[in-house]
Amino acid sequence: MHHDLHQDIEEILIDEATLQRRIAELGADITRDYQGRRILLLGILKGAAMFLMDLARAIQLPLEIDFMAISSYGSATESSGVVRILKDLDEPIEGKDVLIVEDIIDSGLTLRYLLETLRSRKPASLRVCILLDKARERQHPLELDYVGFSIPNRFVVGYGLDYAQLYRNLPYIGVLKPEVYEGQ
Ligand code: IMP
Ligand code: MG
Repeated sequence: MHHDLHQDIEEILIDEATLQRRIAELGADITRDYQGRRILLLGILKGAAMFLMDLARAIQLPLEIDFMAISSYGSATESSGVVRILKDLDEPIEGKDVLIVEDIIDSGLTLRYLLETLRSRKPASLRVCILLDKARERQHPLELDYVGFSIPNRFVVGYGLDYAQLYRNLPYIGVLKPEVYEGQ
């Protein structure tokens, strides 16, 4: 198959250099805020995997990495808030300083569910680091501790984010041409 992924992109919202600059800043903020502590970076598969790996290298602290995979029921472009754990953490988080690393917050339903589930496991602290915050109204606003970028309410792909499992390997955040998913 010869398919140029870039051709399906309408507009680049955040280019590679801008992404990496901001991630370096987030890493510095986290390093300062957690000084003297050891943290657990909890990545949400698959979308946050690339972000987590770059963020981890920007943090100058002892840290552990673990992943969870969840699936939210819903259509391809809108989540329903009903979330299922596909892969749980390898280790208990009780007493640990946990920092959730997530790719994007849209309705916020996925994150709300995650926070509830993880709080019940009694971590010492639980905070959230989100790469992209979509500008839209939320029924229950969430407190986000670290935010990479605020973006318009459009469907984006790249740097870990997918449409139908593709486009994760684009090095930037881009808006998909509507005809790519309208044809489905
Ligand atoms: P929420 O539950 O509506 O906040 O949706 C969060 C999840 O939906 C994210 O973890 C992504 O997997 C997915 N998602 C939301 N918006 C986008 C987007 O613009 N592009 C790709 N995935 C998205
Ligand atoms: Mg996700």
